[in-house]
Amino acid sequence: MINFVVTNNLSMDHIKLHDKKFRIFIPSEKIQESIVKVAQELNDNYKDKQSPLFLSVLNGSFMFTADLLKNIDFQCEISFIKLSSYSGTATTGEIRKVLGLTSSVKGREVIILEDIVDTGNTIVELHDILKKNGASKIKICTLLFKPDAYKKELSIDYAALKISNDFIVGYGLDYNELGRQYKDIYILDQDND
Ligand code: IMP
Ligand code: MG
Repeated sequence: MINFVVTNNLSMDHIKLHDKKFRIFIPSEKIQESIVKVAQELNDNYKDKQSPLFLSVLNGSFMFTADLLKNIDFQCEISFIKLSSYSGTATTGEIRKVLGLTSSVKGREVIILEDIVDTGNTIVELHDILKKNGASKIKICTLLFKPDAYKKELSIDYAALKISNDFIVGYGLDYNELGRQYKDIYILDQDND
């Protein structure tokens, strides 16, 4: 028999990860609402198209990918790639490809799924890799976008939430690998010395 007693739903106003304190920034309900809206846009744009390939960028995009895909009603494929560019709370500018493409993108329309677009280094790197591998069309869909930090020309086709240039965690995003499991998004607190 399954016991449905919930002991901790991980909804808190403040969290501490390593040496830093974070406070609630975007509650789960708002995240889910924005994902449904982006899914509706995609459903409208892809209803008459050949099944595209969603390419989710691990680790950060795992929650976004799962919640978005539950709202997609056209035929599609899903695959995962792993890249990373962050160490601590500042971008290093270095991009390391950790896991390669497992699906062929040759001649395919690819929709990149990102957790967050900050400087844009990661997305531009991935865009180049996909072009070199023969993708016929590449679209970018991100949960979060920091317009004030973005330094690239590439257009961001779908952005569920636009945010200020601040460091955030939760809902897949981490601070040195902690904090990915929270259903809400947290922002670095002023109260850090
Ligand atoms: P970009 O290459 O500067 O656009 O950064 C993209 C990657 O850095 C994202 O996919 C995230 O993994 C990470 N990142 C950027 N901003 C944040 C943040 O505020 N919190 C946690 N990770 C971030
Ligand atoms: Mg990412």
